This record gives sequence, structure tokens and C-alpha cells, in this order.
Amino acid sequence: MRPTRADAVVVFGATGDLARKKLWPSLRRLWKRGSLEMPVLGVASTPGDDRALRAHVRAATEGIATRNPGGASGLVARLGYVAGDYREPATFATLARRLEGATHPLFYLAVPPALFAEVVGGLASEGLARGGRVVVEKPFGRDLASAQELNRVLHESFSEEAIFRIDHYLGKEAVENLLIFRFANSLLEPLWNRRYVASVQVTMAESFGVEGRGSFYDGVGAIRDVLQNHLLQVFALLTMEPPASADPDALREERTKVLRAVRPLEPRDVVKGQYEGYLDEPGVAPGSATETYVAARLEVDSWRWAGVPFFVRTGKALPTTALEAVVTLREPPRLLFCGGDGHQPGPNSFRFRLGHDDGVIVSVQAKQPGEKLCSYPVALDLSFDEVFGERQEAYERLLADAIEGSSSRFADESGVEAAWRIVEPVLHAPADTVYRYPRGSWGPPVTAGLIEPPGGWLDPRIVRRPARARRG
Ligand code: BG6
Repeated sequence: MRPTRADAVVVFGATGDLARKKLWPSLRRLWKRGSLEMPVLGVASTPGDDRALRAHVRAATEGIATRNPGGASGLVARLGYVAGDYREPATFATLARRLEGATHPLFYLAVPPALFAEVVGGLASEGLARGGRVVVEKPFGRDLASAQELNRVLHESFSEEAIFRIDHYLGKEAVENLLIFRFANSLLEPLWNRRYVASVQVTMAESFGVEGRGSFYDGVGAIRDVLQNHLLQVFALLTMEPPASADPDALREERTKVLRAVRPLEPRDVVKGQYEGYLDEPGVAPGSATETYVAARLEVDSWRWAGVPFFVRTGKALPTTALEAVVTLREPPRLLFCGGDGHQPGPNSFRFRLGHDDGVIVSVQAKQPGEKLCSYPVALDLSFDEVFGERQEAYERLLADAIEGSSSRFADESGVEAAWRIVEPVLHAPADTVYRYPRGSWGPPVTAGLIEPPGGWLDPRIVRRPARARRG
């Protein structure tokens, strides 16, 4: 049965960082496309009225057109604001009044997870959960036990079908492409196993630090902020078995299944780091041991992947901002040909560029022109920008999905819990195992040698097209 479309959108945490950077711009773009013809309300504890929220949203969304194709004038002009404490029943009573007539509201909880229970309880007490849908942000809990408790609290008021656990990486076009690339091309699938794959590495690098989010980040750290969710989702799409169909349940089932086959991390499988200067960031506790970098080695106990090492690293204040997954194949049994131009014939690899400058680069060997039979690495380079042009941003796609009630790009309870089970044993490591690293470096030098793919970590700052081979 087709899910019912939401008939109102309510953003909790309407004046917060996430709403300003991602939600309001996405909602305004949806409006511009003509996909948001319904009441939109913001709720926050910041004192103010409709006019104040409108000014806030206008500032956050400058440059996005105000009219939609139907000619209706701006979303901003129609926004409503409810200011109030989430612990006060009056806040929810006011919200209920302003939502009168809506039977399927969508509630977006862009608030710290510690407030989820209060907000959900407040909605239920006004009867607003009935027929409604709730979107919750990651990190979903702090560990397995708190995630289970959160699920329990949500389930008191909302059914599982009405809970949308957002992980915006699942809304990135290039990340979703991993599914298409793997399962819609028969050229890849026969190679996608322990027989042909030598190793896999995933890098999510950010050149900036915590940027004003110190007080949030310090209680979270890289493992909870991105490894448990974003990176394990990318990993799941790279490694899952083919789903029985494109049905949301079938897709989620396979993502969860492979996460369940991953061995829980042990301290020897990770290196944690903290960039120099982190302790001076506003909001960071004195002497904090929160990691801003983590590199991990994962193993999958499955028929397909046993013995293949998977390496994942992420960090703030690294040399660049990039997101990529590189699948390196085994080398041919004998290297028959010399390397040309100082290049050694190397293994084939699939380099999935998942952030900006997205696409796929397949590295193959070709004959270097000349008399000698020498092999030279060349790249089959596909840029999504060149092929597809501008694409929708992840939050915009996921908000549209949540409004429509389409859940395939959202994480479910079992997947979230399976991901916590993987990282849980390394959440609490002794402070002296968090190594300092200089800003602008590739993390703690000890990573090399401890958690390092065969052949080393690849630098994502690639030159898209390799230099031309000289004629021999
Ligand atoms: C967020 C994290 O979920 O993802 C941030 O909380 C991180 O710390 C961000 O910077 C990265 O998202 P993107 O889409 O820019 O890769």
C-alpha cells in the first residue's frame, strides 16, 4: 500500500545549526520545486514569533528563489513559529492548535538526542503522534543500550513504519550509486568477493575542525559522529548481498545482514587521534580525550568476504575534504610485463568518489606505446558532474522521502543496533591511546604500520587524469 503523504512539516530545533545549514535550505528548495504545499512550522526554545523565524530562515536561505513554479509566493512568508520549552505541555498545546486540520504531520527532531523522549512524549500527550511521522537525527543513541532505550521510547508513540532515522549519507546520489553500480552492471558482481578483492579502503576526510560545534562534538567524537553511521552505511552498500528486490525492507535487510557479519572491533583494530589545538576550541572540556580521528580495520565473517581486510578512516583537520571508497583487486598471478616510465604494473582498482567531484575511476593497465611490451596504468574516469550535471542535495531528497513516507533511504532499528554492536567495544578507550596529530596532516603517524591497507592509504587529492605516457 502506498504510504500517505504528510500534510504538515514541523521542525523542532528550528533555530539550531542543522536547521540553518541543511533543513531550511532544503525545505526552501522543495517549495521552489512545488513539492511543499503544506503548512510548515518551526519549534524552538529561542523566544520569538513568526516574524522572527521568517527573518532567520530568510537569512539562512539567501539566494534560493522565493516563488514556486505555480507562482505561489515564498515559503518564508508562510512559516509559523512556536517558541517554548520542550518540557512544558503548553508548548505542545500551542503546536496542536497551530496544526489544526493536519492529520499526517511530519515532525523533524533536529534536537540533541537527550531531548527526543521529551519531544515524543509531548507530541503523544496532545494526540499529535497519531497519524504522524517522526524523523530523528543521528547519532541515534550513545551506545547499543541507549539506542535500544531510544527505540523503546519512540515505539511508545510511533510505529516502526512512522519512524525515519536519518543518515544523510544514504541520501547522497553517489553513495546510492554504489547499489546501481554493483547490481545493475554484470561486469562487477563476479569480482566482488574474496577471490578477486585484495582490500578495501574508505576515507572520509575533512580539512576543517569542529567549527563552533565543540560542545556537541566533544560529547560525541568521530566514532559516534560518523563511523557508527555514515561510514558503516557506505561499508554496508559496498559489501551487502544483492537484495531480493528494490523494496525498502529487502534493501534494509541486506544492509543489516552484512553489518551483523562484521566482527566487533577490538582496541587493536583502531587508532584514535585528536588534532593539535582541539582542546582550545570553544565548548571542549579541559583535557578532553575525545577523538577527532579514527582509523579502523574491519573484518566480515561471511562466505563472500572472509579474509578480506577493510580499512576505514575519518578525521577532522586533515589535509583535504573528500569521501571515497577504493576497492583494490588482486594482481594477476604472474606479472609478465615490465613497468613503463618508472611505474610498476599495479593492481586494478575501483575508486568510488562519493563527495564533491563524485564519480568512479577504474584503474587498468594498458600497453605503453613503444617497442617494449610494457604496462602503464591508465584510468577510466567517470565524472557524475559531467554526465548528470547538477543533482539534488542529500537532505532535500531525504526530506522529500519522509514527506512521501518512503523509507528505503533511512536506517532502521536493526541496522542501527548492528552498527552499535560493531563499534561498542572501542567507544571507551583509555585517554593515553588518543594520539595527537598536527592540523593538516593525515592523522597520528602511528596509524602507518598499525592500521594501514596493503600498499598504503591512498591520497584522495588525485589528479583526475594521469600524466600522458611518454613514448618508449
Ligand atoms: C555530519 C557530522 O553528520 O556529517 C559532521 O555530524 C560532518 O561532523 C558531516 O562534518 C559531514 O557531512 P558531509 O555531507 O559534508 O560529508
